[in-house]
Amino acid sequence: MIKALRGMKDIIEDKRFLKIYDTAREVAESYGYGYIETPILEETGLFKRSVGESSDIVNKEMYEFKDRGGNDVCLRPEGTAGVVRSFIEHKFDRVQTPKRFWYFGPMFRYERPQKGRLREFHQFGIESFGESSVYEDVLIIAVAADIFKKLNIDFTLKINSLGCEKCMPEYKNKLVSFLEKNKDKLCEDCQRRINQNPIRTLDCKNSSCQAILKNAPKITDNLCENCLSDFEKLKEGLNALKIPFEIDKHLVRGLDYYTKTTFEFISNSIGAQSAICGGGRYDRLVEMLGGKPTPGVGFAIGIERIMDLIYINSERNGIYMGALIQEALPFILKKANELRREEKVFAEVKIKSLKAHLKAADKGNYKKALIVGEDELKSGKFFEKEL
Ligand code: HAM
Repeated sequence: MIKALRGMKDIIEDKRFLKIYDTAREVAESYGYGYIETPILEETGLFKRSVGESSDIVNKEMYEFKDRGGNDVCLRPEGTAGVVRSFIEHKFDRVQTPKRFWYFGPMFRYERPQKGRLREFHQFGIESFGESSVYEDVLIIAVAADIFKKLNIDFTLKINSLGCEKCMPEYKNKLVSFLEKNKDKLCEDCQRRINQNPIRTLDCKNSSCQAILKNAPKITDNLCENCLSDFEKLKEGLNALKIPFEIDKHLVRGLDYYTKTTFEFISNSIGAQSAICGGGRYDRLVEMLGGKPTPGVGFAIGIERIMDLIYINSERNGIYMGALIQEALPFILKKANELRREEKVFAEVKIKSLKAHLKAADKGNYKKALIVGEDELKSGKFFEKEL
């Protein structure tokens, strides 16, 4: 028997999946976001240049291969890079009017599968281009918070700032000299990152590294005037919207394109893979991918991670219709069509006994069964049973 690949799952009649999609879409559209769909397969270089050569995603986790034309392509590991590529390709960067997109779809990362960590998973994301105000970051966070509120999901929001091209390099130098001094005590990954991407050491999960990095210089203590004032405004904005948050000075995120604001929504009810949404500002990314300098900010929610946190009202709904005799079927199909204008109607085309029909209606969680036999067909009235 051929089975689905490890870390990949079928989603079968899962109401939670569609509920998340519907809710997220509704909230994003209420904030003025428009739908964008980009290809699942992209040139590998797109992710190397955006997510970053030193990131785990690009280094270890991409489904990368040569297509029949010899092109180096890969299944997208995340949504932002493709949306930015499309933004530039369609010349939205030349117009310089803000553009806001939402998207939903599968992403692929060759990770070690475990609870909440899949190789194919789905993200709902939004990306906003052309607005450098930090209040746009507040609004972006508000979109995610609204989606979680509507889905009745409790969260902890963590925020940080990574600074800009002015203050980040200076901070990096400070961090690198701290890391060099402690190099021998750091894990292999961190040692490698000292030169490749030193700030990624800050979110190392290794406990002995964490003990050392506790004392590392923090970016939020080294922000330039502008980044510091924006970080203050971010906090004020979140307070004004009554969105509670914590500052996490080690929140650097696993993708290299971030500048200034970074954030993550965490759930305490789903185990080790607790990040349910991640995002931040990426003011240099459009330029890095060949477009005109355009600020950007966005987030992505991991759908599979929040599925277990969703409560679906399992109240009975809809009508089940069934026939006791073959001759009643055309009548049933016609009536089902009429009733379907008002509500969900399932018409069973197999002839069954009354008992079997009622059992099926009960199992299908319908609230009412309408059954037609010889007598009903003559009188034009249903045998009706509330379930
Ligand atoms: P990310 O933090 O890599 O960010 O992913 C966002 C969310 O996707 C995570 O918080 C998590 O819920 C979910 N996720 C990630 N990997 C997996 C996995 N292997 N299995 C299940 N769920 C997973 C991004 O992807 C950025 N593109 C977000 C962004 C948009 N930043 C700016 N705009």
